[in-house]
Amino acid sequence: MYPFQGEKSFVANRWYVAAVSDEITRTPIERTLLDLPVLLYRAEDGSPVAMYGLCPHRYFPLVKGQLVGDAIQCGYHGFTFDKSGKCVFIPTQNSGSGYTQRTFPVVEKAPFVWIWMGDAELADESLIVDYAAIGLSQPGWTHPRPIHLHLKGRYQLLIDNLMDLTHVAFIHKQIGGSEAFANAKVIYEEADGCFKATRPLAMPWTSYHDFLYGPEARFEGMSQTESRTVFFGPEYITTSGPVTVSIEGYDTVPEGLGRLFFHHVITPETEHSTHYFGTTSREFRLDDPALDEMLREADLDVRTQDVEAIDAIEARLEKAAARERELLVRSDTAAVKVRGIIQAMLDREAA
Ligand code: FES
Ligand SMILES: [Fe+2]
Repeated sequence: MYPFQGEKSFVANRWYVAAVSDEITRTPIERTLLDLPVLLYRAEDGSPVAMYGLCPHRYFPLVKGQLVGDAIQCGYHGFTFDKSGKCVFIPTQNSGSGYTQRTFPVVEKAPFVWIWMGDAELADESLIVDYAAIGLSQPGWTHPRPIHLHLKGRYQLLIDNLMDLTHVAFIHKQIGGSEAFANAKVIYEEADGCFKATRPLAMPWTSYHDFLYGPEARFEGMSQTESRTVFFGPEYITTSGPVTVSIEGYDTVPEGLGRLFFHHVITPETEHSTHYFGTTSREFRLDDPALDEMLREADLDVRTQDVEAIDAIEARLEKAAARERELLVRSDTAAVKVRGIIQAMLDREAA
């Protein structure tokens, strides 16, 4: 399936974000993840539970049932499954028939709940993206409550979008996406198990600096900045704001000009749709709820522009790709590299 060889496009053996922590409560929800209906709820001790979402009896959605302590009772004929999936009650029978419903390993690392839907034997928690490397839930950092968007497009379209930021100058004009940004030379490297694309850019103080740092952090003259995209895997990409590396005439970068990371958290829903979670972590103006809200709003605007573009492509993609090959150019270097990394993961799983 475009852009991969073969029918399968999900890498199964990865940790994916199932939900933002506060989306999972004592009221069960059903969410399609990697093409499977998954029931999500919290046990009485607060720990998240992820269970295959259809009752094995008549395939009734378990989300329409009710919690009995830590167990879920089907709303159709009352079959009851404990949080490990074991069927513990069937009306008219004394036993649970020895049946066990599939459950999935889950790990909560705020602000996200992670799920492993591949081979459960391989579910090693240390494979979850390293929060320390991305300033997420770390001392000295903060982030607004994450957002959850829905794409009517396959997940790779979002990865292509993030790996080629020349689109910023065209789709996101409101955040100062300039042609200088689009034309900046990009440096590619593979390091720490990640693929990185970095754009060095010279820029003066802008209205975006005002928005982020406040006028009191203003500098004069030109600064050297870096905007970096890091691909940790098909489920996690970060992009960074224009991080100030140095300022002409200043010995050091003033403390107020801290780093900012945009988090792009990607979970395939079906072969043609995607859950897109995100937040923005920062190491400046930590106790500033107004900035939290402004960042969240701006983030929502920007990401919605990407979602609309991707939805429009997906609606036309199958016919277009069957008619002619896509035109790949220099700015696709990172996207093509990353497609290759994912294809290799798919090939390894197929073998
Ligand atoms: S469908 Fe669930 S108990 Fe019958
Ligand atoms: Fe974008």
